[in-house]
Amino acid sequence: MTILDLFGLKQKGQKISAVSCYDYTTARLVGRAGVDMILVGDSAAQILLGYDSTLPATMDLMVALTAAVRRGAPNVCLAADMPFLSYQTSIASAVSNAGRFVAQAGAQIVKIEATAAHLDVIKAVSDAGMSVMAHIGIRPQSITKLGQLKAEGTTAELAYELIELSKAMVKAGANSLLLEGTAREVAKIVAEKTPVPVISCGSGPDCDGQILVISDILGLSDGPMPKFSRRFADLDKAVVQAVGDYAQQIRSGKFPDDTQCYHIKPGELDKLKRMLASTNR
Ligand code: KIV
Repeated sequence: MTILDLFGLKQKGQKISAVSCYDYTTARLVGRAGVDMILVGDSAAQILLGYDSTLPATMDLMVALTAAVRRGAPNVCLAADMPFLSYQTSIASAVSNAGRFVAQAGAQIVKIEATAAHLDVIKAVSDAGMSVMAHIGIRPQSITKLGQLKAEGTTAELAYELIELSKAMVKAGANSLLLEGTAREVAKIVAEKTPVPVISCGSGPDCDGQILVISDILGLSDGPMPKFSRRFADLDKAVVQAVGDYAQQIRSGKFPDDTQCYHIKPGELDKLKRMLASTNR
């Protein structure tokens, strides 16, 4: 899958399925499930590392995770999330950080949480030859500035601003959009008015595709999930059951049994016993 395939799906009116995931093993399964796009999101800071925001994600962490996901899912369209402060300090560092995802980790798209203040960054990264996904609507990296994250585009004025912003992003060079936590009616207008694929994260079913984080899909998240999310399995229960059974079988002596053992070569045990007996004499 490439960015062109995502455009093709939009043109055909076929919905794009995307998952935010962060490791080799899960990416293998997500790839086998036939998902169109994987995003290595900076939500890794929360889901993998247990922080309460995405802010602690670093370039080195994100590049290592993206490369791991690429190894696990070589044929899926791969997007990588530019973490906090990887694109805000200068255009030059934004371009070189974006380039690390493409050159060192095999990403095909870099995602940038963007306001109008970042249009020059979007343009520079795009001009450098990279596919840029502009992430607008709720932008979790702004949590400390905003104090709380709340639905976007909920008044006519805010909606108009967001629609104009989406056009500006595409004009600057974004060739896909991620629309987070935006009023459904507004997201529909953005998707209709925009020539590029628009992926919704909590912005309703009228966008060109949907993304959720893997831990929500699998039922591995702790605490309350966002209103827009949905569990498609209860793997938390399955994991607790499996690991509990494992611990129980260790305690009861049922694990391991002989089928999990390596053995000394035939005849070598007697030889070893003789060696031990002679040295113990
Ligand atoms: O970081 C992330 O995983 C994301 C998605 C939830 C869109 O930005």
